[in-house]
Amino acid sequence: MAFPEGFLQELKLRNDLTELASSYISLKRRGRNMVGLCPFHGEKTPSFNIYTENGSFYCFGCGVGGDVITFVMKIENLDYVEAVKFLAQRAGMEIPEDSYDDSMSRLRTRVFEANREAARYFYKSLYAPHGKPGLDYFHARMLSDRTIRHFGLGFADEDWSSLCDYLKQKGFTDSELVAANLAVKQRSGHGVYDRFRNRVMFPIIDLRGNVIAFGGRIMTDEKPKYLNTSDTPVFKKSENLFSLNNAKNSGSRSLILCEGYMDVIAVSQAGFQNAIATLGTALTREQAMLIKRYADEVIICYDSDEAGQKATARAIPILRGAGLLVRVLTIPSGKDPDEFIKSNGADGAAAFKSLIDKSGNDVEYRLEKIKSSYNLSTADGKVQFLEEAAKVIAAIYSPIERDVYIGKICKEFEVEKAAFTRQVNSINRRKNRDYEKKEARRIQNELSGRGDRFDIRRSQNPRSSSAEEALVAYLIRNPDSAEYIDGKISADRFQNELMKRYYIYMLDRIKQGLDPMNNLNADFTEEERSRIYKIIHKHSTIADTRSSLDEYINVILSESGKPTKKDISNMSAQEIQQYLNAQKK
Ligand code: GTP
Ligand code: MN
Repeated sequence: MAFPEGFLQELKLRNDLTELASSYISLKRRGRNMVGLCPFHGEKTPSFNIYTENGSFYCFGCGVGGDVITFVMKIENLDYVEAVKFLAQRAGMEIPEDSYDDSMSRLRTRVFEANREAARYFYKSLYAPHGKPGLDYFHARMLSDRTIRHFGLGFADEDWSSLCDYLKQKGFTDSELVAANLAVKQRSGHGVYDRFRNRVMFPIIDLRGNVIAFGGRIMTDEKPKYLNTSDTPVFKKSENLFSLNNAKNSGSRSLILCEGYMDVIAVSQAGFQNAIATLGTALTREQAMLIKRYADEVIICYDSDEAGQKATARAIPILRGAGLLVRVLTIPSGKDPDEFIKSNGADGAAAFKSLIDKSGNDVEYRLEKIKSSYNLSTADGKVQFLEEAAKVIAAIYSPIERDVYIGKICKEFEVEKAAFTRQVNSINRRKNRDYEKKEARRIQNELSGRGDRFDIRRSQNPRSSSAEEALVAYLIRNPDSAEYIDGKISADRFQNELMKRYYIYMLDRIKQGLDPMNNLNADFTEEERSRIYKIIHKHSTIADTRSSLDEYINVILSESGKPTKKDISNMSAQEIQQYLNAQKK
């Protein structure tokens, strides 16, 4: 069963997309649209469009589109039912009783509940007699009981089934525990056993306070050192961050990005609640976009070893790309933040604070790195340094910021400002040209559907496909023309399978007196839905006239008589000959 049509319609009426989106991103009016930087991919020029007339959005940069429900699903990381609930609550609407029975949504709820119970169980174990090894371990690493409670740390004992037994007694099934990745299926196929054994446990909590996953550290030198929850229906490690739930409430718009759980916890215990970490993988664009929603600046605080420095170099452009300011904190003598704070004993917090204050921005950090790799006492070394430095400066987006660094370097190296500026500008012009060309090509490809893996038929008969898209867009905007169109063309003349499905679907809904776009989720995948919004946005500037409608219909009819490229490539030599002869007549 799905949500009632009327309920969905009212939900959308009461949650204006432009107003809602404005609380996440800044939007400007452009004609009938609102435009802004897309919150779903990093970009410098706005390609995110809201079509205010029908409350839908489409991003020409990343190809994501939908209605207000889709927007909430993407930006709040919710599934469909959760997003509907979110919007209902926002508008003060009651959800119709039992109106949605979605098994995936139910499973997600059960996984959240199992995780919460597991976190409680691990925490209790830590303070039970059999949890002593875990508690001793944390105390030996200088964590206070207050910190342990704050992060909800815990202990998984060495028994093979204590957590499973406990959760099953609480009513969870084997398959729910396996879905949560708290348990693993026995090889024999009978029963399940605990995934985390003999480890200290770090719960990972999302922004709404749900326990979504765990990290477990072994207390010896055995491998693997950390075991993390694999991706589950409620958790994707590339899209979440450890302790963002705390950092978001720290009152600071500047977040400290660490490599590991223990670093975040040590930094936090030293008084800096604004620390976060990735979950054992390199920083992703999704994570950077998530950070951008709660912060303006990131202080990278990775280990000072080679791996940490490489990870720093990789993270800088990703964070910059998401529109964040970046600073880099350098920890002396090969330590990680946790070890550094500990090694300073009672002065740990003050020592760390001074590292933060000393941390330069990403440009300074990169210039220092380059400086240290050339011999600046020789003319050659100096020239090479200046060439590399010009590249770093050219990559800066703000002209004012560029000018500041040009000034600094020219003063320090006693070079003429005009000459160095020319060098930077010429790199910059080339870069901008490349960037613009790449962007233009990408958008062109998007629009033309060239290289479209998702919808192969489109590239096989682009002429018919374009007309089919235009016809569907026309139908959606002019439901009163349904009867006319239906009388002129039948769906089997469509060549693009997706457009055919949309056409049949829209026509049917219009005949039933329903809003054609109101309830796409039930029948189309996320990608298919994005596609229809793309088409609507693409046609939003084209005037609907009867003659253009007739033209679309004529193109589809005349094209449907012709074989497609694929048909031709599958023909035998004889068939091709017959076809060519027929064409001549
Ligand atoms: P401690 O040794 O406890 O201080 O941890 P750390 O945070 O200093 O760990 P390290 O710098 O070695 O690793 C940083 C992060 O990478 C950890 O917090 C984990 O998230 C992840 N990580 C480390 N080792 C492993 C591993 O063996 N497997 C997985 N999946 N992740 C790991
Ligand atoms: Mn460490």
